[in-house]
Amino acid sequence: MTIRNTITFASIPTDKGLKAALEKEPKSVINDVIESGLRGCGGAGFPTGIKWKFAAKAEGAQKTVICNADEGEPGTFKDRVILAEWPDLVFEGMTIAAYAIGASSGIVYLRAEYAYMRKMLEECLEKRRQAGMLGAKIAGKEDFSFDIHIHMGSGAYVCGEESALIESLEGKRGEPRNRPPFPVEIGYENAPTIVNNVESLAWVSAIFANGSKWFKGAGTKESPGYKLMSISGDVKLPGVYEFPFGTTLSTILEAAGGEDAKAVAVGGASGTLVPPNNFACKICFEDVPTGGSIIVFGKNRNLLDVAENFQEFFADESCGQCTICRLGNVKLLEGIRLMKQGQCTDQHLEDLCSLGASMQIASKCGLGQTSPNVFLSVVKHFRDEIPRHPVAENDDQKTEKAKSSNLFQSVVQLFRTDADTAKNNSGTNKKGVSA
Ligand SMILES: Cc1cc2nc3c(=O)[nH]c(=O)nc-3n(C[C@H](O)[C@H](O)[C@H](O)COP(=O)(O)O)c2cc1C
Ligand code: SF4
Repeated sequence: MTIRNTITFASIPTDKGLKAALEKEPKSVINDVIESGLRGCGGAGFPTGIKWKFAAKAEGAQKTVICNADEGEPGTFKDRVILAEWPDLVFEGMTIAAYAIGASSGIVYLRAEYAYMRKMLEECLEKRRQAGMLGAKIAGKEDFSFDIHIHMGSGAYVCGEESALIESLEGKRGEPRNRPPFPVEIGYENAPTIVNNVESLAWVSAIFANGSKWFKGAGTKESPGYKLMSISGDVKLPGVYEFPFGTTLSTILEAAGGEDAKAVAVGGASGTLVPPNNFACKICFEDVPTGGSIIVFGKNRNLLDVAENFQEFFADESCGQCTICRLGNVKLLEGIRLMKQGQCTDQHLEDLCSLGASMQIASKCGLGQTSPNVFLSVVKHFRDEIPRHPVAENDDQKTEKAKSSNLFQSVVQLFRTDADTAKNNSGTNKKGVSA
């Protein structure tokens, strides 16, 4: 995949950041990461230094650092490029994390489809061992030993969710755990664990090479620094780009040659669909956030086709633990198909939106919580694209639809109640929050 503009990582000398970090006390390493303002690049944007602080404090003999290289979000390919071009920076970042929290083992959970990179990554790890930057007494530090191994993922999108990833690493079915406890306290093999995205770890190395002030000097107040974006779809120049946080979507579209887009999925299939009248929005956590996927849809795209495609993906990828996610995604998919045939009544559409809103609140993990986002954006911003008038039906169709509608109503009612209960019981069930 083509790299389209200047990426900071290309200018960072190997091991400069690690050597600088190892000269400091672990506590001061964590403070520097907090000071830089770095937020996780895997989507949720949790502050990296705070996550490390929790893990450093947690009791446990065998702490683990996990690099989340599962990269399953449709439209995201920036981690693949980072791993291919700058693997040392990622391994350095893991080593800095291990030093900071007191971990002795690290695991890269590598997306199954990236198996072709494994040999190259193993060779890079071996070179680092030979150079004394991995293994026993790293960089001559008597009391610091740490090594990394690569574990292949098995191809499930949900295994990118950190607790499902840990289950999968432990040889179990990849299903999200109830949280709390968070992995920083009870993670891999019940010991304190940090899970960080590939890009977050590479930025850690850059931060120690260039200084936390340098990183904090870019971006916005709530979203300091830079972000890599995978830009695809109806653009002249698809590829990987770097922008400071706070860059407007219109600037990004101009750079990639997608100015006359009809809509842009910021955050991939689980993000939101931004309409042209909001292209002035800023890409950052205080406005429109993204883990790095920007998919552009041109004038000739049917957005119901887009919503159908994404909903099919979620219906397939739901792990099935929660009824609202397992059934909700199927019901939304059926609804979108009805819409495409002009057979969705206004009432049914309203019910689908209500179901989507309940899924956002009552699903256990980020997959279910974000899976209705694009559908809801289509309804909110592109309602004209939805054929409004029910076509004439014969008697059999009417009876079938009535039956299906009654069943549907009971599902919606059931989850309305569940969602209300969840809302009342937990003020903390926010989308994508992770630690
Ligand atoms: C369904 C789902 C899939 C996810 N996939 C990934 C992924 O492929 N890579 C990733 O880094 N984070 C992914 N995440 C987010 C992780 O759970 C976690 O927040 C992240 O790895 C933490 O790293 P960070 O703090 O450096 O962003 C996913 C979350 C969900 C809910
Ligand atoms: S929300 Fe969906 S993917 Fe997440 S735990 Fe529930 S069923 Fe599984």
